[in-house]
Order: sequence, then structure tokens, then C-alpha cells
Amino acid sequence: MPEKLTPPNPPLTDGAVTLRVLRAEDAPAVTLACQDREIQRWIPIIPVPYTEADARRFILMTLQAWHDGTSYEFAIADPSTDRFIGSIGLHLGPNPRLHAVGYLVAPAARGRGVASRALRLVTRWGFEHIDIERLALWTLPGNAASQAVAENAGFRFEGLARNWTLDRDDRPTDAVMYSMTPDDLADAVAADSVAANVPFAAVPRELWASGTRAAPFVQVAPIAELTPGSMRRVTLAGMDLLVAWTTDGIVVTDDRCPHMAAPLSIGNLDGCVVACPLHEGRFDLSSGETVRMPTTGGLDADGTYHSPWSPSGAEMKPEPPTRKLEARRLTRVNRLRFYPLRIRDGHLEVQLPIVPE
Ligand code: FES
Repeated sequence: MPEKLTPPNPPLTDGAVTLRVLRAEDAPAVTLACQDREIQRWIPIIPVPYTEADARRFILMTLQAWHDGTSYEFAIADPSTDRFIGSIGLHLGPNPRLHAVGYLVAPAARGRGVASRALRLVTRWGFEHIDIERLALWTLPGNAASQAVAENAGFRFEGLARNWTLDRDDRPTDAVMYSMTPDDLADAVAADSVAANVPFAAVPRELWASGTRAAPFVQVAPIAELTPGSMRRVTLAGMDLLVAWTTDGIVVTDDRCPHMAAPLSIGNLDGCVVACPLHEGRFDLSSGETVRMPTTGGLDADGTYHSPWSPSGAEMKPEPPTRKLEARRLTRVNRLRFYPLRIRDGHLEVQLPIVPE
């Protein structure tokens, strides 16, 4: 057994999350989090129904485990309020190859990188203080959010471990296995230091392209080749992508205008707004919104009709109805969709939807 550790003092923090020991007063927040259907779905050992007595028992168990040196469980807290928003634990096995980490985040705190941040903090602390040769992290198949957290924090995907764990009815069930070795941690730390100087735009989560969250990361380009204010087309797996370094950071979207598919990469980038080379359309690469409808008019993303317009300001001559006019009128300009990004080994990587063989 490794030497027993005491909770870090001051607590671990990156400014956006703080890791501290759980306290009795966290019980109501732990109860609320563990009553969440998603948490109960993906963590079968959580009792259903979950009561405050379960939360109090859990908190006592974590304190006892700190005392025994068998497991180091932290509350993930909001640094501005010190309130519980999740938990993360490093669970020690009988040898340095059998340690594991697990986490949960309360529903209200999801979607802002809380779990990835906590996982980065706890892995760096753990590898520094404990003899770890392999740190395992497993999730149930289908838990794409948790798998993205693992990859964001530098864990490597290993595969499907069959009958690895038990489901809620004590039946053997598969798990998706990730792990981190000391070399992986060194790579992740190096990638974080590059990423600290290379911002990503904070794209709203609902604008991620469908099918990307569980998709593998693919190399796009060496970071050294990208420059602020630039755009370029990269073709991967038959997909033409636009890589743009806007004033809000880097984004990757399709190199197809959301109006009539012209390549945006040969348009002009001004701050966060790209001007399409056709029809004067302008699109915000940070929010995905249309800033200026094309001259041909048409439907916006919400289905509202916009009339054609003239760049010179001259009045448009009414045209007789034709199929071409009808096609323009019914063409919808949807919001842009984006691909999740990370930096690894000096390269920008992107999650692309898995294409069935
Ligand atoms: S193709 Fe881009 S605005 Fe029409």
C-alpha cells in the first residue's frame, strides 16, 4: 500500500473548479446530483431511489477512505461559492497498475468543462504523490460525454472490456476502457501548455455537428502552421473542413456556405465573421448565426423569410415567378455546425462523425 496522503492544503484549483474533501453539509447537493437520471443511468452502483441518508453514508465512506489511504475522493466545488457541483475520486488498487479514477458532475454544472478540469487536477496530483504505472478510467458504452472528458484530459482509449462490470441488476456488462500512464500524462501536460497559447472559440454545445461526441479524434494540421486571423481548407475522410482562427479562437466547421455551399475558405475573415465569396452572405464563426442574409433572400434558420436585396442599395426589380425564384425563396440558411477540437502532439485534432464501413 502506498503512503497515506492528506488532503492538499491549499485545495487543488485551476481557478474554475476547486477540489476539496466532502463535508457533511454537502449531503443535500450530493443527494440532488445522485437523483439525476443520467447519473443513475451511467453509474450503476448509485442506489435508486437515492436519499439523503445515502449521501451522508457516501460522505462518511469517503472520509474513512482518506483516513485509511484506500481512496481519495474530492468534492468538485465552485470556487466562488465553495458549493458542491460534483465529485471525483482516485481509487487505489493493490499495485501501481490497478488504480482507477471516476467522477460525476451535477446536472446544473454540466457543459462547461467541469469534469475535464477536475480530472486534469486530480491526475496531476495523483501521479505526483502516488506510485501510478497505469490509471484506469472506464465508462459504460454510450456515455459519450464521459468518454470525451477522458480524452480531453489526456487518457488513451484502449477498447471495449467485455463483462468488465455489473449493471444495476448485477449482470455482467461491458465497459469502454481508457487509461493514463506516466508518459501519457507528460504528453497531456505538454499539450496543455501549447493549448494555453492557442485559444479555442467557445462554441455553444448545441452547435456541435451530430455524431461527433463519440467520434475518434483525427489530425487536422500542425499548430505551428496556423496563424491568428487565417482560414484554410483541410480535406479529411472526404469532408472539406474550414479551419479558421478568429478573434474568439480557432473553430473548425464545414467549408460550405450554409446558403448554397460555396467554399467559405476563399471568402474573407473579419474578426469572427466570414464573408461568403457568393451572394454577400456573412456568417459568425463563433455563434454559428447568419449576420447578413444573401442577396437572393430566403429563409433564415428559424424559418423567417427575407426578401432579396441589392448590394448597391438600388431597388430590386420585381421578377415574374419562376421555379428558380421559388427555389431561392425556399432555400433555408441554417446555423453553422462545428467539430470538437483538441491539441495533441503539436497538432490540431478534430472529432469527425464516424462513417459506417
Ligand atoms: S453561397 Fe454563400 S451566400 Fe450564397
